[in-house]
Amino acid sequence: MYDETLRGEKETIVSDDGSLTLYSKEFNESYHSPKDGALRESLNKHVIPAFRLQHGKPALRILDICYGLGYNTLATLHYVQTQNLDVNIEIVSPEFDEALVRSLKVFEYPPEFTSLRHIVEALSNDFYYEDEQFKITILIGDARETIPQLLIQKFDIVYQDAFSPKVNPMLWTREWFADIRALCSEDAVLTTYSTAAATRMGLYENGFQLHYYDAPDTRRSLIASPKKIESLEWIDMELKKQRNPHAQSLRDPQ
Ligand SMILES: C[S@@+](CC[C@H](N)C(=O)[O-])C[C@H]1O[C@@H](n2cnc3c(N)ncnc32)[C@H](O)[C@@H]1O
Repeated sequence: MYDETLRGEKETIVSDDGSLTLYSKEFNESYHSPKDGALRESLNKHVIPAFRLQHGKPALRILDICYGLGYNTLATLHYVQTQNLDVNIEIVSPEFDEALVRSLKVFEYPPEFTSLRHIVEALSNDFYYEDEQFKITILIGDARETIPQLLIQKFDIVYQDAFSPKVNPMLWTREWFADIRALCSEDAVLTTYSTAAATRMGLYENGFQLHYYDAPDTRRSLIASPKKIESLEWIDMELKKQRNPHAQSLRDPQ
């Protein structure tokens, strides 16, 4: 379990693609896979597959769990701009480390994010940014409390990018995925780096179909959706359960 007293203690790491990330002493884990590279991981495991699968929609609502250094949110904006996509984007992102978000206005992001500087600054100061194409809200507080309050409109994309199930199990339990499922549209796409049996079980028990995803230069990841996605490698969870009858989802403490 994590140690809240160490919240402010972080070290900078240069990841494999040259982009900077941090190491959290609170969770004993880095914010991104140093080997996959912070920017590359964000684009290859989350943004690109999600946008390809949701291609053609005029508006997308995205749940970015959790904000951290904001790579997934910023890589989304970068991707939309560089691909000239005519799409309105609304991003909602929980984060309980308010001091981290406030510090990001001086974080050294990769050059790809230079044109987004004014957005980084607004988010860092106000936890909110809006223009004619983008609307972004950072929900400061515990995601387990803020997420269930969001039942207004459904999300098309979920980036499930919390610290790992081992060090932050509360954001990987069956009950957590039930809250996430309640916020998903029927063709929503959830991306996550965790392919662990417990993650797959937690998603499957909440009605998600599961698929493996292999992107260039990054490790295998998972794409979940209420609907089976024909273009991806579908995981037969009934067969997996037969072969590994002891696999269990993580559960909230009673
Ligand atoms: C792996 S990092 C997210 C990295 C982020 N997606 C990025 O691209 O920079 C996980 C983040 O989750 C936050 N976090 C952990 N538990 C949380 C909770 N219960 N509620 C809100 N935020 C939480 C941590 O403070 C940390 O910033």
